[in-house]
Amino acid sequence: MYNDNPTIKGLEKKVDETKQGEVFFKEHSNDDGRKFYIESYGCQMNFSDSEIVASILSKTGYSPTRNIEESDLILINTCSIREKAEDNVRQRLRVFDKIKVKRPGMLVGVLGCMAERLKKKFLEEEKLVDMVVGPDAYRDLPNLISRASDGNKGVNVFLSREETYAEISPLRLGSNGVSAFISIMRGCDNMCSFCVVPFTRGRERSRDAFSVIAEATDLLSKGFKEVTLLGQNVDSYKWENPETKETVNFANLLEMVATVSPELRVRFSTSHPKDITDEVLYTIKKYKNICDYIHLPVQSGNSRVLELMNRTYTREWYKERVEAIYRIIPECAISSDIIAGFCTETEEEHQDTLSMIEFAKYSMSYMFTYSERPGTVAAKKYPDDIPHATKKRRLAEIIEVQSKASLESNQRDLDKSFEVLIEGDSKRSDKDFKGRNSQNKMVIFPKKENYKKGDYVTVHIHEVTSATLIGTIKD
Ligand code: SAH
Ligand code: SF4
Ligand code: F3S
Repeated sequence: MYNDNPTIKGLEKKVDETKQGEVFFKEHSNDDGRKFYIESYGCQMNFSDSEIVASILSKTGYSPTRNIEESDLILINTCSIREKAEDNVRQRLRVFDKIKVKRPGMLVGVLGCMAERLKKKFLEEEKLVDMVVGPDAYRDLPNLISRASDGNKGVNVFLSREETYAEISPLRLGSNGVSAFISIMRGCDNMCSFCVVPFTRGRERSRDAFSVIAEATDLLSKGFKEVTLLGQNVDSYKWENPETKETVNFANLLEMVATVSPELRVRFSTSHPKDITDEVLYTIKKYKNICDYIHLPVQSGNSRVLELMNRTYTREWYKERVEAIYRIIPECAISSDIIAGFCTETEEEHQDTLSMIEFAKYSMSYMFTYSERPGTVAAKKYPDDIPHATKKRRLAEIIEVQSKASLESNQRDLDKSFEVLIEGDSKRSDKDFKGRNSQNKMVIFPKKENYKKGDYVTVHIHEVTSATLIGTIKD
């Protein structure tokens, strides 16, 4: 899930949250106290971080509001992954400026990756911003807020080697009450040449395995039925138990979370093709409640381009991993991230990406044109030489091949039955439910008496589009 566009996707999300998160906001509202409003962009890790921020703020007397006009503190949790993501944030800051002028005393804080990338420059560029807070500095927010209230603008962009916010229990802001994110690690040590994340999120570190289990257990006790374990590269999760000196790897952690309860579904994201092991695949196979779905971003289907990207695997290596997944977990769905028009990419190399989509039979992909990011190896070493129009055309071709692959993937599900976890009403009609199957495909089906949000149901599929499976509940 990437949220680059505040006007379309952001709005959609807010509408969704208003309906589903109502109970949370009522429970946490405090009519006399100060209120904060938070908007999040970027990846799931950022949404998960916003829940940690909300938890920290709620302990200092702030309560969350969805109404920006009544807030005393506006926070925007930002993303730097592509230029467009940053442009959207600047656009939102213009809107906040207007509100701020009408409400003296209101504070505006910029959090997340863009705060980390631009640091102090943010205060110079954006005069009405009061605080700039990087992803590892959220514990300092109460202090920064109190200083900013006294008129001292604050910046804390210190990147930590240890911070994992392990013991902070996130406030589930936009939650549907059924599925939740659990952050299992932070940062990234991979240095893919196009990517800004190692600079904005710092060094990779893994969270205490027992705090992960405690969070999953707590979520289950609150009625949640699905957790997604988050990290930029979950396969390199590694935590040493300080008492026993035993090491917990990702396969071990998956198994620990899976045994919390067979009623709790376990998902994870993102897997790195160079690191995903057969041990992880056999663990997925062993537990029914670990979902048969792997997000395995390829980025490019060509070995020369992959080398320039510093992805540290080849086309052949990636194909072997895909084959291993389908051999060990035949029902598994695989999805991907793809970049069109990376530096020096030729037409033939682009064709390799198209054929990889067909080979891997992705159920879906997130697809982007290459956007040069300041400070990255690619920006320093390689020319951003593919014309914008060519990037766009290649992206359109990638989207077309992927849409066909998605439709074919869904057509293979016709006439099959799946266990679906009900997430709530479908977007189009309150007569229908929506939910996901183990493969992470969205399933729409008519409601039936006695079934409610959070229940598992068996749904028989009789119609598909490239985006959805449509079916009926089988009793
Ligand atoms: N850790 C994950 C991805 C994190 S960023 C992984 O390694 O796969 C999410 C996606 O954004 C990336 O997979 C990549 O496809 C895309 N992306 C990152 N930097 C980009 C850039 N400079 N231009 C275009 N897309 C980019
Ligand atoms: Fe970026 Fe690569 Fe790390 Fe993913 S693995 S966050 S693409 S550097
Ligand atoms: Fe964006 Fe930072 Fe995530 S750059 S994609 S919010 S790690």
